[in-house]
Amino acid sequence: MNILIAFFSRSDENYFGYEKRYVAVGNTEIAAEKARKLTGADMFQISMKKPYSKEYDACMRESREDKLNNARPELVSLPESIDGYSTIILAYPNYWKTMPMAVFTFLEAFDFTGKTILPLCTNEGDDLGRSVEDIKRACPGAKVAEGISLCGTGIESSDPFIERWLRENGVI
Ligand SMILES: Cc1cc2nc3c(=O)[nH]c(=O)nc-3n(C[C@H](O)[C@H](O)[C@H](O)COP(=O)(O)O)c2cc1C
Repeated sequence: MNILIAFFSRSDENYFGYEKRYVAVGNTEIAAEKARKLTGADMFQISMKKPYSKEYDACMRESREDKLNNARPELVSLPESIDGYSTIILAYPNYWKTMPMAVFTFLEAFDFTGKTILPLCTNEGDDLGRSVEDIKRACPGAKVAEGISLCGTGIESSDPFIERWLRENGVI
């Protein structure tokens, strides 16, 4: 099985429990890396040409604006093709109860017909929000598996959940 892990993640300032702090690696990237270790899949980072601010409050404002405008932020790059992949693990943080708008940019750049998408969403309480429906709408023809919701703050101890989810979906 040829698997691609496409992920969006933001380092810098974020909320962890009741306190804000700066981190070098975002929660979703940590989860994506755990999935990579288990699957040996290729990784692609969905990065915005103009990333959101490092500062949490500014990032909230900017990403909310993009959500309200239904924006499709430009990406730094895209994979040349996803033809060689049958399964895409799509990892993203819950932003405003769905995916960051840059993930929509990524999904709309390709035809996912016949492919399986496994949604992995890190969040602070809203689970996958509306993201799975949004993926289905953006990728008609794809089989969208049951997603996994992971608590961002507890991401370091998420290994057994990721492993079980990958097993249940026949990826490992
Ligand atoms: C701009 C922004 C919007 C967010 N919106 C939500 C939300 O609607 N629901 C939720 O449960 N968590 C929300 N969160 C929390 C993130 O989903 C959570 O911290 C996630 O693990 C961040 O992943 P990252 O470190 O890979 O960027 C939001 C965080 C940010 C920065």
